[in-house]
Amino acid sequence: MTQSPAPIHETVREHYAERIKNSASCCGPSDCCAPENNLYPIDLLTTVPSDVASTSYGCGDPITLASLKPGQTVLDLGSGAGLDCILAAQKVGEEGHVIGVDMTPEMIVRAQANAKRVNLKNVEFRHGYLESLPVESSTVDVIISNCVINLSPDKEKVFNEAFRVLAPGGKLAVSDIVTSGPLPEAVKQSLSAWAGCVAGAVQAEDYIGMMKSVGFTDIDIKPVFFDRETVDAALADMEFDVTEYPREEVYKAIYSAKITAYKPA
Ligand SMILES: C[S@@+](CC[C@H](N)C(=O)[O-])C[C@H]1O[C@@H](n2cnc3c(N)ncnc32)[C@H](O)[C@@H]1O
Repeated sequence: MTQSPAPIHETVREHYAERIKNSASCCGPSDCCAPENNLYPIDLLTTVPSDVASTSYGCGDPITLASLKPGQTVLDLGSGAGLDCILAAQKVGEEGHVIGVDMTPEMIVRAQANAKRVNLKNVEFRHGYLESLPVESSTVDVIISNCVINLSPDKEKVFNEAFRVLAPGGKLAVSDIVTSGPLPEAVKQSLSAWAGCVAGAVQAEDYIGMMKSVGFTDIDIKPVFFDRETVDAALADMEFDVTEYPREEVYKAIYSAKITAYKPA
């Protein structure tokens, strides 16, 4: 960690409060990781109003990755405007339960309104931090998350908390941004690039190492994509020395991944 936690939380919260107020997308001034929300299979999104489907700030499809079953309890880390929670609630049905946690009050308000619009009663949104989850220990069957853990200034704490709240045998199914090599120090120090899902991304091997160290097993990480426009948007506010570290290197280093892991039974 090269930045202290408080300014990162503050910058990230302001960034996403602004995004949702303008209903613009996540990772920068242009549309986010999902310009027309092409992250999910089309038939998955037909169950929600189009404006709810397009208020996505993610970088993948944790719903398909999670293979949810009726009756399960699901926790979404950094639930944003609630799209993944809504899709999860539809999958687990009335016997199941979905909890979304997010630190940005404006996101919580929008997510609650969106869930109400689709008339879901098995989903709730709690204000809180991933590093100190407002969730009881060993109560969750599946944790999902979409483009959020990279934003945390203390990822090890996030994995510790995720492990704590999962029931034995529980599954973690996450879409997130990781890197295949170190990012330049100038990028890592940029708070705006952090809020844009770039500067906080760590190397895949370090991400796996943190998961292992808290007790996760059967860890699998598969690259998906991360487009150049999103990286450009995330780096737009910072001075970037192309001679010292060509942007091409950033494009090559950073990618979205689908990640699964389990808490031993
Ligand atoms: C890139 S958006 C993703 C939102 C949602 N998962 C989606 O796919 O649309 C990141 C979200 O995570 C929340 N967030 C970031 N860091 C957090 C933290 N440490 N604790 C709680 N929420 C956090 C932000 O407030 C924001 O709503």
